Amino acid sequence: MPVPLFATSLDRQMPAIVERLGAVAEGGRYILGPEVEAFERELASYLGVRHAIGVANGTDAITIALRALGVGPGDEVVCPSFTFYATVEATVSAGATPVYCDVDPETMCVTAETVRAAVTPRTKAIVAVHLFGNVAPMAEPRARAGALGDAATFSFFPSKNLPCLGDGGAVTTDDDDVAAAVRRLRFHGSADKRTFVEVGYNSRLDELQAAVLRVLLPELDGWNAARRAAADAYAAEGLGEHVALPVAGDGVEHVHHLYVVRSEDADGLAAALAERGIGARGYYRTPIHRQPATAGFAPAGLSLPGTDEVARTHLALPMGPELSADQVHEVVAAVAGR
Ligand SMILES: Cc1ncc(COP(=O)(O)O)c(C=O)c1O
Repeated sequence: MPVPLFATSLDRQMPAIVERLGAVAEGGRYILGPEVEAFERELASYLGVRHAIGVANGTDAITIALRALGVGPGDEVVCPSFTFYATVEATVSAGATPVYCDVDPETMCVTAETVRAAVTPRTKAIVAVHLFGNVAPMAEPRARAGALGDAATFSFFPSKNLPCLGDGGAVTTDDDDVAAAVRRLRFHGSADKRTFVEVGYNSRLDELQAAVLRVLLPELDGWNAARRAAADAYAAEGLGEHVALPVAGDGVEHVHHLYVVRSEDADGLAAALAERGIGARGYYRTPIHRQPATAGFAPAGLSLPGTDEVARTHLALPMGPELSADQVHEVVAAVAGR
């Protein structure tokens, strides 16, 4: 039985999506109209924050959030190296200098200790990536960067837990000034479209994607519950006898965007699973502090042992709201049988 890495489907929602896309197409408002406004309200209410601001993608969300917080040239931003490249790319785009910190190889997220080791008097912000659907501990990083207020960023890339049909992203914050700055920066640094007070971006969530996100947001809790049930099924089937299972942070309900296990032979295991039609993949074999474009930000002799360990051993196995009990059984049997 083939098992895809992403066990997701929009089949049930597709009629509603097509209907809404048709209505927006015929309505003639395509940029910063009623769909974006309504989605921003609905997302803010779902998250319990004062402001949600739609932007063009998750990478821009990080750049714009950093700039809205006042981060710029001469400032340092603490970033994990074991994450998607966009974290560091966005920091550099904002004009700041990334400072790499380590992760806990079990949770795959930064910790209070790893952040503390990277903080200097020039630290202006900390990007605590909630990797793979886990939640990084926030209390101490927040206190350290506390003077700035804070913001969270989201990507709605099609594989995400809350997807759209292309690129999309958002910044959320409780801070009115930060929210106003994000709104300006996404529209060329202008609040009124006539006066340009800073050099910003053309980075809007568009009406078509907002309409899709409004159809899908009500599904998110159910989808996340189904992902957790699939993770529980992996554990109940005994997967933990063969590989190290994902570890949620203290008090965290993991939403398993990806189901990432650890194995001393991660690539060998992926190849064996591929032969049986089972999707499996290492995401960040080369961490950002070793990538050609960004290795130069690492001081000589930088040691990130947790990062190097998890970069070598991690492997994403099939996950998604549609992952069936039979598919979980198939994956565990394949992992056990090699
Ligand atoms: C951890 C992380 N940060 C940032 C991004 C960037 O988001 P986007 O692809 O929407 O620009 C991604 C995207 O996949 C991601 O996984």
